[in-house]
Amino acid sequence: MNDTVALVTGAARGIGLATAKLFHGEGRRVVMLDADGPELELAASALPGAMAVTCDISRPQEVAQTVDKITQTMGRLDILVNNAGIADFGPMADTDFARWRRVMDVNLDGVFLMSQACLPLLSRQGGAIVNIASISGLRASTLRIAYGTSKAAVIHLTKQQAAELGELGIRANCVCPGPVNTKLALAVHSPEIRAAYHDAIPLNRYGSEQEIAEVIAFLASEKASYVTGQVVAADGGFESTGVGLPALRATTPRDI
Ligand SMILES: NC(=O)c1ccc[n+]([C@@H]2O[C@H](COP(=O)([O-])OP(=O)(O)OC[C@H]3O[C@@H](n4cnc5c(N)ncnc54)[C@H](O)[C@@H]3O)[C@@H](O)[C@H]2O)c1
Repeated sequence: MNDTVALVTGAARGIGLATAKLFHGEGRRVVMLDADGPELELAASALPGAMAVTCDISRPQEVAQTVDKITQTMGRLDILVNNAGIADFGPMADTDFARWRRVMDVNLDGVFLMSQACLPLLSRQGGAIVNIASISGLRASTLRIAYGTSKAAVIHLTKQQAAELGELGIRANCVCPGPVNTKLALAVHSPEIRAAYHDAIPLNRYGSEQEIAEVIAFLASEKASYVTGQVVAADGGFESTGVGLPALRATTPRDI
């Protein structure tokens, strides 16, 4: 085990849990944070030595108290992965202010609050912030008025962080996952949305939690020591692709 400390939010399941496992496997000291206490305890029990902290990242006081606890217990922080997020898909007409606010509270305000609270710890020896946005923050589509806007803001927040924190030795980068079969996606991806994603993605499939975690771990690592302010889509090629893909795919010879 090395002495570096990695904090992952939304670590009870999905992409966050895969990322925590990867850091644990690298020998780092891992702090797993999630609002879902019971699921978090269960997940953390499989990672010996991991610290589990229950916290709602959208609540400023809880965030401050939680980061104080981490400071006292761990004494340092090298990596912050702002992964916790919620998806709430719906048309603008049905997105009342409470729904809009909840998405912004968690997906945007939570990233700001966690990053700000962790700044004193991260700046002690320098470190890395990796924010998790989405392809929905890169390309607009229907039903994502709140979710897509919150994720686009996370992309810009990352660039603001990179601009401001570089001189403190803190890098900030953003990962935009494409669709991954997690509880979040299962709740909002209808069969039609799933089929549309398959059509629009050159690799023609959903990604795995592990595939997203590998990109996060790279950006957090010393291997990316000269990379900051960047947005990496881990999306099977979705973001780079234009119209006509399914039709062209049907004409592509399979035996080349
Ligand atoms: N799964 C996808 O297809 C997909 C695609 C693009 C982006 N993302 C993003 O990846 C991140 C992880 O998503 P996932 O698919 O693993 O989701 P998930 O729902 O499986 O896991 C999210 C975790 O975050 C926690 N969480 C939610 N609100 C919280 C809060 N206020 N405070 C603390 N913890 C909270 C949940 O309890 C859960 O454990 C999210 O930011 C999501 O928007 C996911």
